[in-house]
This record gives sequence, structure tokens and C-alpha cells, in this order.
Amino acid sequence: MSDHNKIILHAKKEINLINNIKELNIFKVKYLGKKGYISLQFLLLKKLTTKDKIKKSIIINNVKKQIKELIKKRKNELEYNNIKFKLLSEKIDISLPGRSTKIGSQHPITTVINDIEKFFIKIGFKITESQEIEDIFHNFDALNISENHPSRTEQDTFWLNKKILLRTQTSNIQIRIMKILNPPIRILTSGKVYRNDYDKKHTPMFHQIEGLLIDNNLNFLELKGILSLFLKSFFNKKLKIRFRPSYFPFTEPSLEIDILGKNNKWIEVLGAGIVHPNVLRNVNPNLLKYSGLAFGIGVERLAMLRYNIHDIRLFFENDIRFLKQFK
Ligand code: PHE
Repeated sequence: MSDHNKIILHAKKEINLINNIKELNIFKVKYLGKKGYISLQFLLLKKLTTKDKIKKSIIINNVKKQIKELIKKRKNELEYNNIKFKLLSEKIDISLPGRSTKIGSQHPITTVINDIEKFFIKIGFKITESQEIEDIFHNFDALNISENHPSRTEQDTFWLNKKILLRTQTSNIQIRIMKILNPPIRILTSGKVYRNDYDKKHTPMFHQIEGLLIDNNLNFLELKGILSLFLKSFFNKKLKIRFRPSYFPFTEPSLEIDILGKNNKWIEVLGAGIVHPNVLRNVNPNLLKYSGLAFGIGVERLAMLRYNIHDIRLFFENDIRFLKQFK
């Protein structure tokens, strides 16, 4: 076997052991590079006669061509293997079972609001909405809340600027509704209210439901009747209810209702009263010929009593273990 055939055989063995492009480049330099095997062979030609030079150079060129082809072939193989490996490693097993989606549940506060609304719709109330960002007039002034009333101070109210605030109560709806609707009025609204408070019984955001009736000859007895009927229907069982005289600047007379909790403590759940004449006058003096009933229900308080929850903060911490219980 000629030297050149030996070289080609050797190169074939060598190249078959190569497993990546980097090694293949080293191989290429070794055979085809400036100082590589082929260049050396051409250098050696110098010493030969012209006739031999021609003969030999044909052979060397042939070897060069074969080595080039070996490299090309190996390169293709390596690239193909690479792709094959990549495809295998990225393969998706379509026989695997899918990930199941967990179905959530309604938040207890939403459930309570829906239940309350259902009752009042049945007795003829219309549901309305109102804004959470409110001005001093609708949140305080028009509701007969004097300028030095404690609820206006920094510690209770979240002020956005000197005149605009996050409503501290849903009673703003009383003013907004009386401005746009003519009596008889019978509306209910639910929504978020904001007060700067945080402990077991208070969160800076909580929910209220406001009811407003404006009609001829409404009286305190009707107010008490509606509210006790509502509480009986909401809790669906016998309850100890206490009506307690109270004070709100926008109702006169006013009352609060407490419910006896399991721990034998009275829990205040709503405030109500006859709409104060000043409030009617602030909106439109023509309204003074009517009478009004208003009430504000603390949604979280009712939810706490219904579900036996002792810390209001649990409603808004979004702990999945807590929320799961309301499926
Ligand atoms: N807005 C009162 C509160 O936040 C509740 C209330 C509403 C009282 C309507 C009387 C009439 O406590």
C-alpha cells in the first residue's frame, strides 16, 4: 500500500472517532492547514524532477480531495446527530395526563352581598351602583356631617386631596340618588368603603349595603319591620336581635341593630333611621314633603356571624386554606 493510501486509511479511522465540530476543526488544520500534512507534501516536491513533480502533485491533490470529502461527510453526520439529539430531548410525551385546573369558589363577601340583594329585590328595591372616589359634599356636607365631626379627621378618612376622598360610607348614594330620581325611591347599593383602621375588627377597606326609601308617610315602624324581616331571612333561624337608639347626623331618630353572637356578646350589624330633614333640604327643598328611611348594613359583620369568623382580616388575606371552605 502506498504511503498516501495509508494516510487516507489513518485519516478515516481518526475522523470516525471525532464527536464534535471543534475536534473536526483540529483535524482539518492537521491535514489541510498551512503547516499541515498536505502542505508538507507539496513542499517536498521541490526536490523532484519536473516529471515526478507533475506525477506526485496529481496524487497529493487527489489525497487532498479525499480528505476534504471525509471532512464534509463527517460534518454532515455530526450536524444530523445534533439535530436528532435536540429533537429527542425536546420530545413531548403526548400520552402524559394533562394538569388539572382547580376550580375556585365565590368569595364569601360576594355570596353575602348577593344574598342580601336577593332579599331586597324581592320586596321591590332596585339595585344601583355608586362611586368610591367621592367629594366632601356627597360624603359629608350634604349628609349633615358638621365640619368638626371626628370622621372627617386625618386618622379616619383617606384623602386624595383637600376636597376628594375615598368614601367612608355608602351613604353618599343617598345624595346622588335623590339628585337624579323622583320619589317614590326604593334603592339598594352595595360597595366598598374606606377607613384608616386595622385590627381584628377593622380593615381599611370593607363593604356596606345602603338602602334608601323616599315616599309619602314612611315611618319608624316600617323601617324596623323591613330590617327585622331581612335579618330573619338572611340567617334563616331564630336570632336574638336588639334595637338600640343611636345617633347619625343624617338620620333622626336613628337606631342600630345588634345581634347576639355565639360568645354571648352583642355585635353591631347595621345603622338606620329616618332621613334628617337637613339632608332632604340639602338636595332639594321640594323633597321635604316626603319622608325617607335609610339604612346601612355592615357586610363583613353579617358574614362573620354567618360563618363564625372571628377576625375580619381573614376575608382579605386571600389564604387559599380559608377561601377553600366556602365551596
Ligand atoms: N353610614 C352609616 C355608617 O357607616 C350607617 C347608616 C346608613 C346609618 C344609613 C343610618 C342610615 O355607620
